[in-house]
Amino acid sequence: MTSQTLSLSIDQPLSLLLKSEALVSNSSLCDIRVAPGVAADVGHIDSAGEVNDYAVDKLDEALQGVEVIVIPAGVPRKPDTNASIVRDLAAAIAQNAPKAHILVISNPVRFTVPIVARILEKAGTYDPTRLFGITTLDVVRASRFLSGIAGTDPAQTPVTVVGGHSGVTIVPLLSQSSAGAAVEQGSEAWKALVHRIQYGCDEAVQAKDGVGSATLSMTYAAAKFTNLLLRALKGEAGIVTPTFVKSPLFAAQGIEFFSIASNGVAKIHDLGNITTQEQELDNAALPELKKNIEKGFAFVQ
Ligand SMILES: NC(=O)c1ccc[n+]([C@@H]2O[C@H](COP(=O)([O-])OP(=O)(O)OC[C@H]3O[C@@H](n4cnc5c(N)ncnc54)[C@H](O)[C@@H]3O)[C@@H](O)[C@H]2O)c1
Repeated sequence: MTSQTLSLSIDQPLSLLLKSEALVSNSSLCDIRVAPGVAADVGHIDSAGEVNDYAVDKLDEALQGVEVIVIPAGVPRKPDTNASIVRDLAAAIAQNAPKAHILVISNPVRFTVPIVARILEKAGTYDPTRLFGITTLDVVRASRFLSGIAGTDPAQTPVTVVGGHSGVTIVPLLSQSSAGAAVEQGSEAWKALVHRIQYGCDEAVQAKDGVGSATLSMTYAAAKFTNLLLRALKGEAGIVTPTFVKSPLFAAQGIEFFSIASNGVAKIHDLGNITTQEQELDNAALPELKKNIEKGFAFVQ
């Protein structure tokens, strides 16, 4: 068996989860190679939603009437390839689904989301309240890792995680949750927890030993974020979750995007009360974020 056959992409399990999502009435799967097989497979699931597949040269057709677009297309650890892919997808979206909500998974989101924004802007269809980088995996990991220490149920241990979506750009605001506040800020336990949240991806990569990344947990996180967005779009009140969006928070420092708690599609929150240690984490995140966002804009130029 080759390593290729062992590696599991995000797109296939995500297609399955979204097919079983009650709020999805219709899925259009578009991929350069596997869409027909995946559609035939997940299309047998006993949920009401319809599934259609499209070859990549039928992308324009696939986008007709679509309200929410999730983009897991890409190649792991190939930012420039991913940049080209999202650039081309964004151009097609601007033409065929200008009102759609766009959820970007293709990494690094702090590079790919600004690219999508600029392409939409050029096409005159950019609405910042409809473009999101999915950072939910950081939130999921933070809840899981913190609950492991606190002895709580992860589902009842929410942690707001802001910033970017990799390494030092991930800023968990542990002080804002009761279980997190119990971990003394700046202590060795706090440092270890923050480090684990920031670099959790490496645990999966190392354990998979060269045949994949954190694709299953990412798939779960993407489905979770999509569900929250769909519920918010349906009018459910009180849905607040971190996501990488255009934010005024650090705009004065030239940082146009920041992962921050966002209330569905309506309101971008601020950081709230944070500790000195969390402020230091934030300070470390900002230069990295700025660099990548500028790189994204330069790519489109
Ligand atoms: N945000 C996260 O936490 C996280 C975690 C893991 C992976 N990722 C990112 O998600 C992306 C996908 O990762 P993966 O492990 O599933 O990769 P993969 O290579 O296993 O699968 C990528 C899929 O995208 C498809 N594809 C490639 N180019 C395309 C195009 N132009 N149009 C349509 N489909 C196209 C491929 O056919 C394949 O099915 C990568 O960018 C990766 O870095 C993000």
